Amino acid sequence: MRHLLNWPVPALLAWFSVWIIYLSLDSAGLSAPWAIVCACAAGVIFSIRGATQARRWALALGFPLSLLLLNTAVTFIWGWLALLVIAALVYPVRAWRDASVFPTPLNALRRVPTFAPLVDHAPMLDAGCGLGDGLLALRLAYPRASYYGIEASWPLRILASMRCPWAKIWQGDIWDAEWGGYALIYLFQRPGTMNRAVEKAHAELKAGAWLISLEFEAVDLIPTAVVQTGNDRPIWMYQQPFKFLKKNPQRDSKRRGAGKKRSS
Ligand SMILES: C[S@@+](CC[C@H](N)C(=O)[O-])C[C@H]1O[C@@H](n2cnc3c(N)ncnc32)[C@H](O)[C@@H]1O
Repeated sequence: MRHLLNWPVPALLAWFSVWIIYLSLDSAGLSAPWAIVCACAAGVIFSIRGATQARRWALALGFPLSLLLLNTAVTFIWGWLALLVIAALVYPVRAWRDASVFPTPLNALRRVPTFAPLVDHAPMLDAGCGLGDGLLALRLAYPRASYYGIEASWPLRILASMRCPWAKIWQGDIWDAEWGGYALIYLFQRPGTMNRAVEKAHAELKAGAWLISLEFEAVDLIPTAVVQTGNDRPIWMYQQPFKFLKKNPQRDSKRRGAGKKRSS
């Protein structure tokens, strides 16, 4: 029986008792600082039973240290939760699959109109417009176009609207939006997004419209043109009707169906 009370069992019993004292005083309505002082005093009394100096310290400091650790852990957990909520607000989880916010450099699209000339007021959409940098670059390249932007994140959408008051920007999902009314879709997403974008653009864009992608190539398509930006990032340009590397009759019939629906 005696071995059951070998160290550290007495310490665990002492700390447990001190915690019970603290919680009882706290729930009896004693103010928190006084409850802590009383519990610490109880810890000091228990420490007298410690066989060595180190054990006496351990008995006395067990409660205040565990209280400190608990508070730090709670603060830490709340801090992380707050950061997660902010991150989820800025980047809704579904946008993580496509791309996080990397801005288009202002001059990146300057040479695009040489290859993809458009009439005045041509509607162009920055799909996933982030803070509006892609729209700013589009406006520099095409000063007389009509500019639209969709962004998944509410805070980024608000900031983009403030930076680009001349554009119509809304919060939404690029995959739910209708692309068929635009003369140019601009993308700066990520490689994994390109297949889906090609499928959507192929099904919805009218003949003559453009899919323009900064940096990431549509590997199934033969580009109509490619230009290098100053930062070694290519701009891939694809004009409808797209030229696919491999024939796929099912895909082409889907497009013919979509074309018929639009014209009816
Ligand atoms: C790399 S940033 C590009 C921002 C802007 N187009 C530019 O070039 O400066 C990609 C943006 O797309 C947004 N995004 C990713 N997936 C999206 C989706 N499914 N619908 C709407 N926006 C999306 C992200 O929130 C991010 O702001």
